Amino acid sequence: MALQWYPGHMNKAKNQVQDRLKLVDIVLEIVDARLPFSSRNPVLENIIDQKKHIIILNKSDLADPKVTKDWKLNFQQEGTNSIELDAKHNKGLGQIKSLIRSELSDKIERYEKNGVKNYQIKAMCIGIPNVGKSTILNRLVGKNVAVTGNKPGVTKNQNWLKTSIGIDLLDTPGILWPKIDDPKVGMKLALSGAIKDKIYAPDDVAIYALNFLETHYMDQLQEAYGLTNADVFNHTTPQLLMDLTKKFGYKEDYDRTSRRIIEDVRKLKLGRLTFDIPGEFYEE
Ligand code: G4P
Repeated sequence: MALQWYPGHMNKAKNQVQDRLKLVDIVLEIVDARLPFSSRNPVLENIIDQKKHIIILNKSDLADPKVTKDWKLNFQQEGTNSIELDAKHNKGLGQIKSLIRSELSDKIERYEKNGVKNYQIKAMCIGIPNVGKSTILNRLVGKNVAVTGNKPGVTKNQNWLKTSIGIDLLDTPGILWPKIDDPKVGMKLALSGAIKDKIYAPDDVAIYALNFLETHYMDQLQEAYGLTNADVFNHTTPQLLMDLTKKFGYKEDYDRTSRRIIEDVRKLKLGRLTFDIPGEFYEE
């Protein structure tokens, strides 16, 4: 799979994040709730650790709610608070304000003691392309100031934005590409739609998806495609892809079957799924 990660680009983004950190009180790290590990950027984690920091698990409407709870607990145990958000349907935005205020309560109190009332909190959003930064900014700002679109990485300019939750927001500097050292991370990002479809071979991603579904979501897999135990057990995953091709009536067009499976996963045909499982992921 032709996925590349350019250290030069990453260093530039890293330096830009580092420069802007001085300007804000807190960092809002936005991740895809289906990929709370794979959609983070480990290079940035070290830098943002120097600052107050919360994780926003966006697209929670697409993720497995039980696993999202596990992830929240996992992050909490690591010392970072997180919230679930569904920016597309405007659910959970109110929690951002209360979590930010509680994270910064010491600082706000200090300022109040020194006579500064209504301390203006300044925050910065970071996140790899397609996690929903523009959608969140649009929701918080209340008008279309950030450009959203279906091409990863459309957020271009950084501005201070006045938000409806009384916090000034500095938009993400540059494009923070994901870091793809592990091919599985690449597969998961491709499956979620975070990486352009042209870059990967659909059958690689579909086989990865089927394998993952067989391990973690067998019931949903069987139900979605009307598969019996005999269809799925004692079969290799490529064999299953071939069987599904026949079942769908796609002759030997395995690419078409693969694209359909990827689309079905993205469109919730198999229900809400999370591709990163806490604990298990770290052992991989
Ligand atoms: P970015 O700035 O981080 O690159 O992401 P952006 O906001 O452009 O969002 C990328 C895609 O994710 C958009 O879909 C957006 O609607 C969708 N999205 C954002 N937040 C959520 C969420 O909480 N839940 C769901 N289900 N989707 C979300 P798109 O396909 O590019 O456009 P469209 O479907 O809105 O037309």
